[in-house]
Amino acid sequence: MNIIRSKQELRVAIEKFRTTHPGQVIGFVPTMGYLHSGHLSLIRAARQETDCVIVSLFVNPTQFGPTEDFQTYPRNEERDSRLCRQENADILFIPPLSDMYSATHSTTVHVKNLTRHLCGKFRPGHFDGVATIVLKLFNLIDPDISYFGQKDGQQCIVLQKMAKDLDLRTQIKIMPTVREPDGLAMSSRNVNLDPVSRQKAPLIYKVLLNAASQFQAGELKVKTIVNEARRILESDPAFKVQYLECRSLDNLSAMTTINRPCIIAVAAFLGGVRLIDNIILKSRDHV
Ligand code: PAF
Repeated sequence: MNIIRSKQELRVAIEKFRTTHPGQVIGFVPTMGYLHSGHLSLIRAARQETDCVIVSLFVNPTQFGPTEDFQTYPRNEERDSRLCRQENADILFIPPLSDMYSATHSTTVHVKNLTRHLCGKFRPGHFDGVATIVLKLFNLIDPDISYFGQKDGQQCIVLQKMAKDLDLRTQIKIMPTVREPDGLAMSSRNVNLDPVSRQKAPLIYKVLLNAASQFQAGELKVKTIVNEARRILESDPAFKVQYLECRSLDNLSAMTTINRPCIIAVAAFLGGVRLIDNIILKSRDHV
């Protein structure tokens, strides 16, 4: 595995790969590091489906708000490099901050509407930061296929819209959320949960599963499903729910009845750690 630390070096390596391996497929897995099994599942999918696997590791400051956890975001480059090597990645791109954002960087990508809801409502500017860095990485790498995890459901929807609107060449593949055995969605931030919070955290997925069961049993009223999910989660005061909403999967519009595919998404603070998760509901009638 080749560890590359500058945009220039990355461009040269990709150019070389493209000329020496015409027609071969580049797979890209963007990450902020502190890799867990969710990331590894993306790298494995890329390894299976593409010829050259590029992983990026960059804790992107522009997607963190001023009071958010950029400074304390977990980092361990040595371990991440080892894991990428074990997964047979071809290139690990670890750019320094100054290479990704010059002192005079002035351009931001803003995906309208979709970013007003859910996480976007509580993390102003977050998705601008995500879209901007991901577009920069797409421009540098020009991947054939890019891999993202369903856990960041809104991020996936926003990036798919950006790719469509801006005629990007890359195919965006969304891979299933990888969970701990007790159901907690894998996240780099889980390491910041204290032992008591860690024990409580799986309740988030349990309320989502309960919502899915209600839907499968025939309940279609969003209010009924969402209120029940919120009630169960808030029955433990350790959870500070930021949002728990059901929105249309295609454009995140609000719904009153589940008459098309939808996403039930939740963000909650637990012991000071912000956790997100989601579940997609669709029936056989939803095409
Ligand atoms: O999902 C993440 O880890 C980040 O938002 C991403 C896509 C790597 C952009 O910084």
